[in-house]
Amino acid sequence: MFKLKLAAIAVATLGMHAAGAAEVEVLHWWTSGGEAKSAAELKKMVEARGNKWKDFAVAGGGGENAMTVLKSRVVSGKAPTAAQVKGPSIQEWGAEGVLANLDSTAKANNWDGLLPGVVANVMKYKGSYVAVPVNVHRVNWMWVNPEVFKKAGAEVPKTWADFPAAAEKLQKAGFIPVAHGGQPWQDFTVFESIVLGVGGAKFYEDSMVKLDPKALSSPTMEKVFDTFRSVRKYIDKDAANRDWNLATAMVINGKAGMQFMGDWAKGEFTAAGKVPGKDYLCLAAPGTEKSFTFNIDSFIVFKQQGADAPKAQSDFAAAVMSPEFQEVFNLNKGSIPVRSGVSMAKFDDCAKTSAKDFADTAKGGGLVPSIAHQMAVPAATTGAIQDVVTSFFNSSQSSKDAVAKLAAAAKTK
Ligand code: BGC
Repeated sequence: MFKLKLAAIAVATLGMHAAGAAEVEVLHWWTSGGEAKSAAELKKMVEARGNKWKDFAVAGGGGENAMTVLKSRVVSGKAPTAAQVKGPSIQEWGAEGVLANLDSTAKANNWDGLLPGVVANVMKYKGSYVAVPVNVHRVNWMWVNPEVFKKAGAEVPKTWADFPAAAEKLQKAGFIPVAHGGQPWQDFTVFESIVLGVGGAKFYEDSMVKLDPKALSSPTMEKVFDTFRSVRKYIDKDAANRDWNLATAMVINGKAGMQFMGDWAKGEFTAAGKVPGKDYLCLAAPGTEKSFTFNIDSFIVFKQQGADAPKAQSDFAAAVMSPEFQEVFNLNKGSIPVRSGVSMAKFDDCAKTSAKDFADTAKGGGLVPSIAHQMAVPAATTGAIQDVVTSFFNSSQSSKDAVAKLAAAAKTK
């Protein structure tokens, strides 16, 4: 259950700041090398507008830890100014009655005109902006070290059917085929790319977004679990609990051949001075070339006390949507700008591919929300499905059993 039962807490007790302080406290989970560089750009721009940045970073990829900390902060009446929250959870927070309204900032800066309609809708609660979007991340990527594949005489897999032969060759040549961190959200991230690659975008939509029981318990889903199990054979024995950026480092330094991860991984390659197309390849995860799993980072803003709070919040939101921020932040973060009117000239080929595929799939089909990154279904459902996925990955459960558990978990509200 998400419900915090906050109605009883007087909003007046939320986020007490002395008048005149103009402090902007921002909760986020951007703590890896590439992420921290990106967050630093946000701090710079907020401070350039005359506010004081108070960093509230909660380490833990995927944001699970951050969400736990956020809930306890809000319940105890100390909501931060803004917090990294995305997807359907924005509606859940909206329903708690604790969010501030950004409509005047949005109107003054023409957000409705600059954002795709589907994105704007996610940022609004009951028709009013309560959140500001930062970027568009693509999740269905495969990060490849081409040198490793060359040394092993292996072909980069284009489909999941190609995957075992390639992984076998890498392993025989002494490499770790798949760089992975054994954390539930990372397992789930790999899983959703397999759902997409094995079943296609419609199957993904039916099973992971509409939660259609037929799709969830289909033979195709059994095949997805079989494929997922086959990936397990090709990760190393030290994967348990490894952070995602350390897994990316294994691809960067030539220990491992590939990683299935969203394009925040590109932030790590960029921070290490690596060049796409030369030092590493960004390719769609097997079988997913024509699809795009989107993950849009955004910040919700909380009602605050203090006369200077609305201006500070408006400054923060306007900074996030400014073309200058959208460019520099996304160059570091690995994502692409979420609003129109930002030049892509400085972006690399991975970002340009992403931008093109985002536009093409939005028009022609294949654009789907990432379930592992909280874009598809409510938080409680996401959590229940993630539990099934991760416990399958870490046990010898049969695919048949897992499929039955998945269909049951999808009913969690
Ligand atoms: C967020 C990214 C972040 C990644 C790893 C994702 O859910 O959208 O911004 O870099 O998790 O922490």
